Formats: sequence, structure tokens, C-alpha cells
Amino acid sequence: MSKACSAAISITKRLEGKVGLITGGASGIGAATAKLFLKHGAKVIVADVQDDLGHSLCQELGSEEIITYAHCDVTCESDVRNAVDLAVSKYGKLDIMHSNAGLLSNVVGILDTDNEEFRRAFDVNVFGGFLAAKHAARVMIPAKKGSIIFNASNVSMTYLKAAHAYVSSKNAVVGLAKNLCVELGQYGIRVNCVSPYGIVTPLLKFGFGLMGKENEKIQEEIEASGNLKQVVLEAENVAEAALYLGSDESKYVSGLNLVVDGGYSLTNPAIEMAMKRLHSS
Ligand SMILES: NC(=O)c1ccc[n+]([C@@H]2O[C@H](COP(=O)([O-])OP(=O)(O)OC[C@H]3O[C@@H](n4cnc5c(N)ncnc54)[C@H](O)[C@@H]3O)[C@@H](O)[C@H]2O)c1
Repeated sequence: MSKACSAAISITKRLEGKVGLITGGASGIGAATAKLFLKHGAKVIVADVQDDLGHSLCQELGSEEIITYAHCDVTCESDVRNAVDLAVSKYGKLDIMHSNAGLLSNVVGILDTDNEEFRRAFDVNVFGGFLAAKHAARVMIPAKKGSIIFNASNVSMTYLKAAHAYVSSKNAVVGLAKNLCVELGQYGIRVNCVSPYGIVTPLLKFGFGLMGKENEKIQEEIEASGNLKQVVLEAENVAEAALYLGSDESKYVSGLNLVVDGGYSLTNPAIEMAMKRLHSS
């Protein structure tokens, strides 16, 4: 093989030789990330509670030599421990922990927020992320390397009039990631977040009470309220951000909240809309 050919291969396989574990990997952003990580040469553990979906995704994407499903409720420590241990026993190590599993509870105001739903959001989004990071660190510290990536959200940058459980839990995720970055740097472990804008997934439809609505209609509204026009944010684009953070291309990047929102969090159209209303009245 010519030098040019081998250089091209190493550029396209950005995770060659690495092992990644993706929580919440059976659906949406997690499933897109599993697919992209595989494409770039990684071996992947898909960890989720949706066993049928997780198994069929793994079968579709490849053999057990490169991808395996693990039942893993991220709020259950033994599940998380077993999933990490499976990565080590099956593929020899863990290089990338993508703590992606999440829950968007009903998008309602504080008086309508159910106390148990609030606790559950913190349990899955924050405690689940903590367990994922803890067990990743357990095997990454002796290896003196690793990349931990949390899926936070654009709500860590832009606040809402509702969804207090989700918004505060995702801000806690960013805080946890930054604090872990400070502790784990001494072991060569990087810790970062990805914070996407809206994508039509079961999580988004459920949280906003849109289960009966067509995906295309929801997508149109998300696009219309976005800042960056002419492009549509898809799960694959968030996976690209995780790929960057998991690969050696980001080898000195730690403590970053990589916001994938097309600039949405910098906008505030309220005053402009008020002025337009005045002009048209
Ligand atoms: N879709 C969006 O607009 C959006 C925007 C910003 C951030 N996010 C975040 O992206 C992540 C992935 O969400 P998605 O949009 O792909 O949704 P999704 O519904 O497609 O996937 C979420 C996955 O998490 C799994 N999960 C839920 N609870 C779990 C638990 N206790 N243990 C293990 N797995 C569990 C679900 O089974 C599901 O497979 C979430 O953390 C979400 O908060 C999504």
C-alpha cells in the first residue's frame, strides 16, 4: 500500500484501536454515535435499558467482535460496573465513556412539576452520569488515559420558563464534568460535554408532550426557531462532536462544554419581536 493510501486510512479511522461505551446507546444520538464510532474503527459497548432495540441495533451494525449490547440502567451501580467490566473483558480496555443516557421530564412550570419526576430526572441525568464517570475512571486511572464525554444540552446555556428538573440537572452535568476535568487531569483523562440544540427523538417528543405529532412538523418548528439557517441539526452531527472529543484530535481539550446549537444560545429575539409587533400594530 502506498504512503498516501495509508495516510488516508488513518485520517478516516479516527478511533482505530479504541474502545467506547455509550450509555443510552440504543436510540437517537447514542445510536448515531455508536454507528459513527464503529465507522471510525472503535469497538463499542451499547448500554441501555431498551434491550430489544439495543440488541437489534448491535446486530444491524456488526458482529460481537466489534459491538456488544449490555443491559444497563445508569441509575443502578452494578449495571454500570458490569457494562464497564464487559468493555474490559471483551475488548481489553475502555478509552471513551460517552455518558449519553438522559431523561426529559414533562416540560411544565414549577407548580405543575411532580416531585418524583424531578428526583427521577436528577437520578438518570446526574447520578447516572456520575456512576458512568466513576466506573470509567476506575479503569481509566490505572491506564493513565481516557476520554469521558457527557451529553448535556443547550439548556446548559439557554434557560426556559419550564422544565426545571431537566434544565437544572443538565447544568449539574456540566458542573460535574468541569470538576471531574480538574481531578482527572493528573491521570491523563479528559472530561468534556456536548450540548446539542433540539433534535426530534423519543426523548424530545415525550418531554414536550408531542408523541402524537409528525416528526416532520416538529422538525420544521425546531428549524424555524434555530439561529443557523439552511442546515438541519441531526443526531449524526452531535455524534461528530463526540467523535472529536473521543479522538486524539482533541488530545489537549478538557473541561469544554461543546455547544452544538448553531449559535442559538447567543440569540434573544424578544426585543426584535416586540418592535416588529409595534410596527405592525
Ligand atoms: N434530542 C434533543 O433535542 C436533545 C437536545 C439536547 C440534549 N439531548 C440529550 O441527548 C441525550 C440522548 O437523548 P436523545 O435525544 O438521543 O433521546 P432518545 O430518547 O433517542 O435516547 C435516550 C436513550 O437513553 C436511554 N435511557 C433512558 N433512561 C436510561 C437509564 N436509566 N439507563 C440507561 N439508558 C437510559 C433510553 O432508553 C434511550 O435509548 C440525552 O441525555 C438528552 O438529554 C437531547
